[in-house]
Amino acid sequence: MFQDLKYMLQGLEYLFQGLKHRVLISAWFVMSRTFFFSFSLFFHFYFVSLQSKGLKTKQMRQRRTLLLGGLHTLLYIMVAVGLLTSCTEEKAYKIGVSQCGPGQWREKVNHEMLAAQHLYEEDAKVIVCNAGDDTQQQIRQIDSLVNAGIDLLVVAPNEAEPIADAIAKVRQKGIPVIFFDRKATTDDYTAFIGGSNVEAGRIMGDFTIQLAGNLHVTDRKPFVMEITGAMSTSPAQERHEGFARAMAGHDELNYVWEEADWTSDEACRIAEEQIKTGVLPDIVFCHNDGMATGVYKAVVETGVEGKIKIMGIDGLPGEGIEYVQFGHQVGTYIYPTHGEKIVRLALDILTGKPYERENTLQGMIVTAEDVNIVDLNCRELMKQNHDLITIQDKLEDSLVLYDTQHKILIASLICIAVLIIAGVLGWRAWWQTKKAIRQRQALNEEETLFYTDPSSRKLHEIFVKPEDDLPPPRSQDMIFAEQLNEAIRKNMSNPNLKMDDLGDEMGLSRVQLYRKIKAITGQTPVELLRQMRLQRAYALLTSTTKTVGEIAYEVGFGTPGYFSTCFKKQFGKYPTDLRAE
Ligand code: FRU
Repeated sequence: MFQDLKYMLQGLEYLFQGLKHRVLISAWFVMSRTFFFSFSLFFHFYFVSLQSKGLKTKQMRQRRTLLLGGLHTLLYIMVAVGLLTSCTEEKAYKIGVSQCGPGQWREKVNHEMLAAQHLYEEDAKVIVCNAGDDTQQQIRQIDSLVNAGIDLLVVAPNEAEPIADAIAKVRQKGIPVIFFDRKATTDDYTAFIGGSNVEAGRIMGDFTIQLAGNLHVTDRKPFVMEITGAMSTSPAQERHEGFARAMAGHDELNYVWEEADWTSDEACRIAEEQIKTGVLPDIVFCHNDGMATGVYKAVVETGVEGKIKIMGIDGLPGEGIEYVQFGHQVGTYIYPTHGEKIVRLALDILTGKPYERENTLQGMIVTAEDVNIVDLNCRELMKQNHDLITIQDKLEDSLVLYDTQHKILIASLICIAVLIIAGVLGWRAWWQTKKAIRQRQALNEEETLFYTDPSSRKLHEIFVKPEDDLPPPRSQDMIFAEQLNEAIRKNMSNPNLKMDDLGDEMGLSRVQLYRKIKAITGQTPVELLRQMRLQRAYALLTSTTKTVGEIAYEVGFGTPGYFSTCFKKQFGKYPTDLRAE
């Protein structure tokens, strides 16, 4: 169950790698949109400033269209850069591995294959599935691997015959197929890699003959029993073939064989049955160490320990090797795994390099004599392999981290550049707006000062000084000023006095009058008129006994209340206060 969970997690991790890019792309998109909005905000300020500069709406609209168009282009360039940087993935060859079942031996191969993913120049992505000793399940898994887009299939067929059709389908799709450890009954495969099972059977057979020779039984033939793996699998067929070949011609031995199914339980059952007949086998050869443990269990349970010599195949540290060390087995055969060689062969096929179709891996027999040294070597090798996987995992994590950081760095640089541009534009817009506001404020202050300061020099000189103090007119301006003074004084009591009326009187157009007054006094005609009304009122208040109301109407104010307010603004006191003085 834990195995399944592990493979499931592996699959999820594989899926997640694809997702990571999608997440990055989305992040890019969100970021781009954020910039778009920040830009829009700055543009808003910018247009406010344009407005304050008095730009026409049409011109503004044109500028807006141009800028937003540019912004959109920038946005799409950013998204495109994001997509490109997040999608550039190094090509890794996807190698799908279909294991027929679980077990320590297969675990070891899987580890070696995973460790070899980055061992070679070409990168490989190894995806492992486990069919749990179920042929139909294996057929379905092969199908899923093909659908997942693998470039090559590595398969250890659970059974030789029924898997052939599924393999044919894979081959029809042009996907290379490597058989490892086990074969299927088809010649349509790209390559095979694995130990020689016939050889393994033969070597164990030779060892059996040697052992039997040392038994020194005289009253009967030494009894040799072979317990095979499931005969529907190629290793069981071949191991049996090799063993039977070694037994052939040895009539001094009593040799029988029985089929099991690679499991310890089945081997235990067969051994127990045999022991219970009372005819004890002298030597039992099992097709794997797992079954050998089943036989040992039967021996212990039936109390015939030490009377039967057991041997198996696989020779894994912690399994067969340990059983030999403990004395439960007299020997085992190291059935080679070499996952790294499987990956190398796959990469050679995928990259079009020359390769051998049949690749036999070297195995070896281990007996009590050499088991300790072999164990030491095996453990050392396994430790190195384990370390390699740890280093590789860390390296992979660092690479992923580096990759992400690299992308974030590029994105940040772009963001900073964009923010600087947006900042400069925004600051400029803000500064211009502020400048415009400041100018307007200064103008207002100047105006207020002009009206409220009774000692305003220009006005005083031209219009307030008593007539006898005025210097004789020396210029056109002075003549104009006198005429204007006269015209205003004459019409002052008219509260509806208009610029046009004054212009008519002086023979000037409205615009001419405006410009001239502004040039000489620095005031607009309306401002000047109000100023003069107030000055006249001041004079009347101090030199006559007329009421405040009468004076207000006389100098042309619509209501005495408004007159009082303006008077206070101009002279700092109300007309009534002046009267009281
Ligand atoms: C593991 C196993 C090994 C055996 C091999 C033969 O699944 O049963 O014990 O050597 O398969 O294919």
